[in-house]
Amino acid sequence: MTASAVPNPPVVPAALLNALRQAHRLVILTGAGMSAESGVPTFRDAMHGLWEQFDPAELASQEGWDVDRDRVWAWYEWRRRLVQLARPNAGHLAIPRLAKAIGELSGHDVKVDLITQNVDDLHERGGSRRVVHLHGSLFEPRCYLCGRQGQFTGPPPVEAVEKIPPPKCKHCNGVLRPGVVWFGEGLPDHAWSHAEQLVTDCDVLLVVGTSGVVYPAARLPVMARANGKWVYEINPTRSELSDKVHLHWQTTAAIGLPELVTALQLQVG
Ligand code: OAD
Repeated sequence: MTASAVPNPPVVPAALLNALRQAHRLVILTGAGMSAESGVPTFRDAMHGLWEQFDPAELASQEGWDVDRDRVWAWYEWRRRLVQLARPNAGHLAIPRLAKAIGELSGHDVKVDLITQNVDDLHERGGSRRVVHLHGSLFEPRCYLCGRQGQFTGPPPVEAVEKIPPPKCKHCNGVLRPGVVWFGEGLPDHAWSHAEQLVTDCDVLLVVGTSGVVYPAARLPVMARANGKWVYEINPTRSELSDKVHLHWQTTAAIGLPELVTALQLQVG
């Protein structure tokens, strides 16, 4: 379903409002759908998914790097440019307003944390400060040899280019690799343990825009529910997680999240 097929304005589920009214700790887990309305393609949606055009196994993997690292680097440079040109959407902008809206309704302080699978920086640019990046960042390359953080030599090219040699590490002269998690690689330890802690400690987990097919991230909603937390999902279509959460709200990130803030504000008083 596309954003235009989602009822507008959507009806905010009463159960979600009730759970948020009582929450002291809200965690939001996001996936590529969160940035879709900013013009950043998702990975698995038909027609416009990035990987309709490129084979992810070839590009986002050690094997792909071994075969043609210039092509892999060029692909990530293209994605870096795409994200730089994108703007946070209404969903990104609504998230930092959620804590205030819940707090005003409930009369108590609310802590909101984000766990994202996205390698873009749209949450941060949208005003969120507490963001755990499970899959790394397009903007933090590191040395393939010595592992130290590296620097881009300039902006990404304006036009997509098929091959770009990765820059050299200024410490050891090795080549830089993208600072993202590739297929077959483990998540950064600190990010994963922080994410586990957050879903263990939260009252409500809101899952936004993920297909729920990539592990271990997809385990977090299941873990939260097993620990007695309320788990809700925002997604215009059903995902692998829809049967595992308490409620699937059929709406998009940029429609549903601002609507949620408005609904909370309307309940005050
Ligand atoms: P996917 O592309 O697998 O799924 C995107 C989800 O977003 C789908 O369930 C869509 O229905 C939903 N969606 C589309 N438009 C939306 C909108 N406007 N609002 C809300 N939801 C929308 O992306 P992820 O689940 O994030 O990993 O994929 C997980 C991981 O797979 C990625 O982080 C990436 C990839 O392998 C790495 O790069 C390591």
